[in-house]
Amino acid sequence: MNGTNDGRAAPPSHRAGPSGGPGDSELDDEGSPAESDEGRAPRRPPIHVLEDNTLHTRLTRDLGVHYPFVSAGMAFVALPPLVIAVSEAGGIGMLGSAPEPAPFLRSRIQAIRAGTQRPFGVDFILDRARAGDFTTREHIDTCIAERVPVVAFHWALPPADWVKDLRAAGTKVWVQASSVEFAKEALALGVDGLIAQGRQAAGYNRGTTPTLKLVRELRALVGELPLLAAGGIADGLSAARALFHGADGVWVGTRMVASVEAYAHPGYKQRVVDGDARDSDFTTLFGPEWSGPRQRVLRNRVVREWAGREARAPTNPTDSIGTTRLYPGLSGGDALYTMPRFSAFVPTPDTQGDLEEMVLPASGSSMARIESVLPAGQIVVEMMEGAHRLLANPYELEADADENDRS
Ligand SMILES: Cc1cc2nc3c(=O)[nH]c(=O)nc-3n(C[C@H](O)[C@H](O)[C@H](O)COP(=O)(O)O)c2cc1C
Repeated sequence: MNGTNDGRAAPPSHRAGPSGGPGDSELDDEGSPAESDEGRAPRRPPIHVLEDNTLHTRLTRDLGVHYPFVSAGMAFVALPPLVIAVSEAGGIGMLGSAPEPAPFLRSRIQAIRAGTQRPFGVDFILDRARAGDFTTREHIDTCIAERVPVVAFHWALPPADWVKDLRAAGTKVWVQASSVEFAKEALALGVDGLIAQGRQAAGYNRGTTPTLKLVRELRALVGELPLLAAGGIADGLSAARALFHGADGVWVGTRMVASVEAYAHPGYKQRVVDGDARDSDFTTLFGPEWSGPRQRVLRNRVVREWAGREARAPTNPTDSIGTTRLYPGLSGGDALYTMPRFSAFVPTPDTQGDLEEMVLPASGSSMARIESVLPAGQIVVEMMEGAHRLLANPYELEADADENDRS
């Protein structure tokens, strides 16, 4: 242990298998999700939230949660059912705020509150769509009025008065950072925590530093503030490594796409289960609707076809790749949307069309560790209990085994 997390010396339980090395072939050695029962519904074992918290970190202390586990805010995919399931299992579920009007956000927050009394959060991407900014002062005021426990920002820095006003209302403010420079700017705003987004991470990502290296770099900056690790964390081993290298918690995206509660198209979930380490890549191909950011996505047909010539893709395509609903379940937001070619909208259960033409944010490093679609609560418990077992005997955690991004 490097001494940056406290209270992790829990009584060792058994290792769930022979001593595992760092590679993917050892994934099953430390309690990663249950075997895939192909063709059968996922098993639903009881979720036991232990009385005695065995993975105390700054995060669990700060938020009063059982596990240092946060599910990433994922626009369109991380809706109230996923948030509720993660928070109820003892982690922190983050709502992925899409570029949607503030009253829709209020409805989502109220739906979460109706499902759990435990801490949760809202994640905002700070970007600009053709119709205007994704996130406005009205969204922030909504979070303040609804007393949201955690608000996280990604991609750009929030205005200083947003941070100040959220914090004054008792909300913890976190920023996702993929470099030391950006992290320093975020810290200068007075944020309550950072998420180290390594280059393995899915979705909007300008990172060039692998996750564990970035965790160590940011650990040296943040002092006593909580630091989360994001990118390639999808089982007990990868979670244990992140904690061992100085993170106070994990921020998990791709693994949660392949959860029962994620609002992702079943074909997308299956591709994440089937995908492997080399099946993701960076692209700027997607987003006639907005800025065409650098994203890590699953390498489906359209990504392969346009690799290396993304800049030549038409910015105003007139052909369509399918239809979807932008804000399902909300009156006034449920209209059918025709997706232009290279649409930035991820396929959900409402989407019709060819998924090989669509954006499927996913991390290869994470997909290599995912074997089946499982209930979100089961994922939380299995990853955290697996990490706990490994941290009690941290022999193989030191090596930067996953630092060679394999995509
Ligand atoms: C489907 C999907 C959608 C995402 N959308 C968002 C988002 O709306 N806001 C955000 O801050 N990050 C988003 N991310 C990125 C995550 O915050 C996080 O950095 C990443 O998922 C971590 O890497 P992992 O996927 O290997 O766990 C998204 C990730 C995925 C997989």
